[in-house]
Amino acid sequence: MELQVAATGEPRFQRVRGMHDLLPEKATRFRQLEEKAKMLFELYGYGEMRTPILEPLSLFERALGTTTDIVEKEMFTVKDKGERALCLRPEGTAGVVRAFIEQNFRKTIKLFYMGPMFRAERPQKGRYRQFFQIGTEYFGNPSPAADAETIQLSAEILKSAGVEIAIRINSIGCATCRKNYQKILLVFLKKNFSQLCENCKKRMERNPLRVLDCKGDSGKFPNAPKTTEYLCLECKQHFTQVQELLAAVEIPFEIFPHLVRGLDYYTRTVFEIFAKDKKGSQDALAGGGRYDGLVRELGGPDTPAVGFALGVDRVIAQLEETGKIPMGRSSPERKKIFVAAVGNNTIPKAFQLLTQLRRAGFEADALLKEQSLKSQMRMADSWGAQDCVIVGEDELKENSVTLRDMKNQSQKKVPWDAILSALQ
Ligand code: HAM
Repeated sequence: MELQVAATGEPRFQRVRGMHDLLPEKATRFRQLEEKAKMLFELYGYGEMRTPILEPLSLFERALGTTTDIVEKEMFTVKDKGERALCLRPEGTAGVVRAFIEQNFRKTIKLFYMGPMFRAERPQKGRYRQFFQIGTEYFGNPSPAADAETIQLSAEILKSAGVEIAIRINSIGCATCRKNYQKILLVFLKKNFSQLCENCKKRMERNPLRVLDCKGDSGKFPNAPKTTEYLCLECKQHFTQVQELLAAVEIPFEIFPHLVRGLDYYTRTVFEIFAKDKKGSQDALAGGGRYDGLVRELGGPDTPAVGFALGVDRVIAQLEETGKIPMGRSSPERKKIFVAAVGNNTIPKAFQLLTQLRRAGFEADALLKEQSLKSQMRMADSWGAQDCVIVGEDELKENSVTLRDMKNQSQKKVPWDAILSALQ
């Protein structure tokens, strides 16, 4: 926790660097995107999954690879009381795969999740230390149709939110043909050694693919060997079919033969989605791909799988920047009623009425503390109330209330029993 000293001399708490408070307006936009995604997940046959935020550190080391940026330098690690090394999840896939194995899920299953992820990256625009993802994992289907459907689903979510997108796809082959590609890439990197960043110089031998995704080095080598030229026959056919399936449902895409992604678990199809006008390698709104070896790697049965995750923070920022905040309300508009309590002992009755109004399906609010009628009316106005119900001392004696139409400022007395029907 970071402390600053306030004017009073008391310590003042501040949020942790790279982490954000989501205020109501922004939080509502996040929720609305999540709701849109949930609706699509239901249409596509996905069930929700919630995994813990804390997981064993070794899970991510094993799943993502020890030479990835995330594991090398971006993990928020903690120790539990037994001194076991844990960490705040940097992504969702490893935890879902851990659960898939631990809970013995049925072989074919489609799962979605949403929630915060944590990466200790250098904070900058679009890159936070706590950010939110919406993602899916589809287990048990090796067919290119599962890849195409995953790409389609992520594109549909972004499009339904109002983003104009560009999709990049690639195939990085299977464990066998990738070995060949890695050898050829390594020869190329050795020739260009002086241009590599210090970190890539160190990890190049162990994991040459990382250079193509390095924040500093990616884009430096347009002449690097292309993964697609070294695919085995089966991987080549798989990739061709993914492209045909996408074309069949009219999803435009570009092939990007240097796209490798920043995590080690991928096999065959990888993809990233960008806003049409913003295709910098660090600007991806979503990314994913197939990972046929990961379940096995983490101790489970051989299980093909494919998934994606989108960055909610980035998608909302993109919509805000382009002025396309499509977000309306998440529930249908209802009549707004403000309850004003004026005078002695009127608050309990106002509180009771507020409850009745909400139970009847109105949006109802009140100040519920002693305040002049005038300032309560101001509050009702700025909140956008259509009607105001005034509970005053006289009304209390008569077992009635005063109804005020906020638009034309007219008022009338209504008996307590007739309030709901008068408002409807
Ligand atoms: P990822 O590409 O690391 O993939 O992250 C997915 C998305 O999360 C990115 O495209 C980006 O929008 C967002 N994101 C990542 N890091 C940050 C950050 N520091 N600040 C803001 N947004 C960020 C994965 O996480 C894989 N688990 C996706 C997947 C699921 N692959 C298969 N299944």
